[in-house]
Amino acid sequence: MGVFSSTDATATGHEQVVFCQDKPTGLKAIIGIYSTALGPALGGTRFYPYESEEAALHDVLELSRGMAYKNALADLDLGGGKAVIWGDPEQIKSEALLRAYGRFIQSLGGRYYTACDVGTYVSDMDIVARETRYVTGRSVEHGGAGDSSVLTAWGVFQGMRAAAEHQWGSPTLAGRRVGIAGLGKVGKHLTKHLLDDGAAVVATDVNDRARGWVRNTYPQVDLVTDAAELVGADIDVYAPCALGGALNDETVAVLRAKIVAGAANNQLAHPGIEKVLADRGVLYAPDYVINAGGVIQVADEIEGFNFERAKLRATRIFDTTREILRLADAEGVPPAVAADRLAERRMAEIGRLRSIRLG
Ligand code: NAI
Repeated sequence: MGVFSSTDATATGHEQVVFCQDKPTGLKAIIGIYSTALGPALGGTRFYPYESEEAALHDVLELSRGMAYKNALADLDLGGGKAVIWGDPEQIKSEALLRAYGRFIQSLGGRYYTACDVGTYVSDMDIVARETRYVTGRSVEHGGAGDSSVLTAWGVFQGMRAAAEHQWGSPTLAGRRVGIAGLGKVGKHLTKHLLDDGAAVVATDVNDRARGWVRNTYPQVDLVTDAAELVGADIDVYAPCALGGALNDETVAVLRAKIVAGAANNQLAHPGIEKVLADRGVLYAPDYVINAGGVIQVADEIEGFNFERAKLRATRIFDTTREILRLADAEGVPPAVAADRLAERRMAEIGRLRSIRLG
């Protein structure tokens, strides 16, 4: 999934981009549908105070494209889409705005399913669901899948196990030192999986509450000052679980870990970093492959949520990661490139089947 800078939807290959406005509530939303080759496009709604409409459009184009690749490799019968609401959620989020937004989603007739993302929560999806059937990530009380970070962390752990097997011969983190940057919803669950597996965890977070939580819950976890210290620390695995762009020229130059496997979206700061990592002997488990547990969790809601079924599917992230790492070796390319190729192959091979008429 190469990084691109165009804000021209036809140049980026999108099927459809929809601008929505409801003046009385202040709703300004853009829904990006990259591909419906595998099924309805699924991706969350980001509610964010973008500096300009162009910035919002750029983000939705990039994010919706990423979802198509993520959903394809998560073995879902779903295409890729995403939406942004342009505005400060603290200032303008209201029942009326969310319901107006829900009506726009409904008007797309099921081509796009939404869910939570930065700035939107399960309680918001419950409100959106009063106007549209095409919403996931609702609360458990409303038949939803609830907090998606549970299976996101489980999937990251599975991807990390596959990377450990590839790098060291055994699918376990036992006896390894794993550095987690970001002890949020995902980082907390991941810490538990790693400790249960017998790993040592060293972590950091900018938030005092998150640091306090880990100190109280898992006193055996070492806390370091910041991500820069973590990257330079004596760790075997680096797990970025905060914001994007964690792997840039500076961090990769000092990184001591031999595996990078974390939850954060868009970890590669710019194209080419995946090659620098590979040249340094660092195995990078592509972010969108191993963090797909969350979308798997919310996608399951479309059939009527069943946690065990969703967990089984998220567990298969182990096999997918293993296959990508094998393919990368076989084709002599970094894992990020191999993942893109595999996703494109599935979109083409399975998407083509729709050309067979059903009568
Ligand atoms: P969160 O907002 O609950 O946690 C992020 C944590 O990172 C917070 O505790 C924050 O204080 C910390 N943080 C922020 N900047 C930091 C820095 N510079 N250094 C250290 N810590 C820092 O978010 P969540 O849900 O845990 O997600 C983590 C990452 O995983 C995000 O990038 C998100 O986009 C991605 N992701 C999350 C999914 C989910 O289901 N929650 C699904 C797929 C990806």
